[in-house]
Amino acid sequence: MQIAIDGPASAGKSTIAKLIAKNLKFVYCDTGAMYRTVTLLAKNNNVGYGNVSGILNLMNSHEIKFLNTENGQDVLLDGKNVSDEIRSEEITNNVSQVSAIKEVREKLVEMQRNLANDTDIVMDGRDIGTTVLPKAEVKIFLIASVKVRAERRYKENVERGIDTPLKTLEDEIAARDYKDSHREISPLRKADDAVELDSSDMSIQEVVDKVTEIVNSHK
Ligand code: C5P
Repeated sequence: MQIAIDGPASAGKSTIAKLIAKNLKFVYCDTGAMYRTVTLLAKNNNVGYGNVSGILNLMNSHEIKFLNTENGQDVLLDGKNVSDEIRSEEITNNVSQVSAIKEVREKLVEMQRNLANDTDIVMDGRDIGTTVLPKAEVKIFLIASVKVRAERRYKENVERGIDTPLKTLEDEIAARDYKDSHREISPLRKADDAVELDSSDMSIQEVVDKVTEIVNSHK
């Protein structure tokens, strides 16, 4: 079974997808982490985020690996665990430029489809239901208001010792949504057959329960 969870930035996709995968014992794949890792690769090598050939060369000459772990997924770049580094503000605020590159998307979509080939999987991202796994049995489009998403991000940041004002986070989230939904290739949009869930006023458990109910109705 394939479960696709798409939606805008900080809507809680990864949190929900991880829990659903754990409950069902499915493989979990966070596709945002892949675009983030390519962005980190560019940063580490001083290659501009818009330098298409430079980024493609880097992708061809470095090893990116994704490991399923007890609590989700780890990302290894040339053997080094970069799961935390890819969540930095610098990467978050520039990943949309890298993810808009057609050739980057083609390579990563191929990796994502290969991962989903012969296993039950929960995959979260922006274009899973529309492009990567268009035949997924379950498609969820998870949304929440910008205000709620910024507040959630703010709390996460405080726990990680990052002190960015709430208003800045709201602006950053809105800017990333705009870029992700207005790019030419596979923009963020709800698949026609996806179920839209607004988590603004729902707890994590309520969203998990709702998604589980939808999954069970497809078994
Ligand atoms: O989900 P997350 O916020 O980690 O994704 C980071 C970025 O990666 C998104 O803002 C988007 O630019 C890109 N992305 C994408 N397609 C996906 C997943 C993520 O373009 N399937």
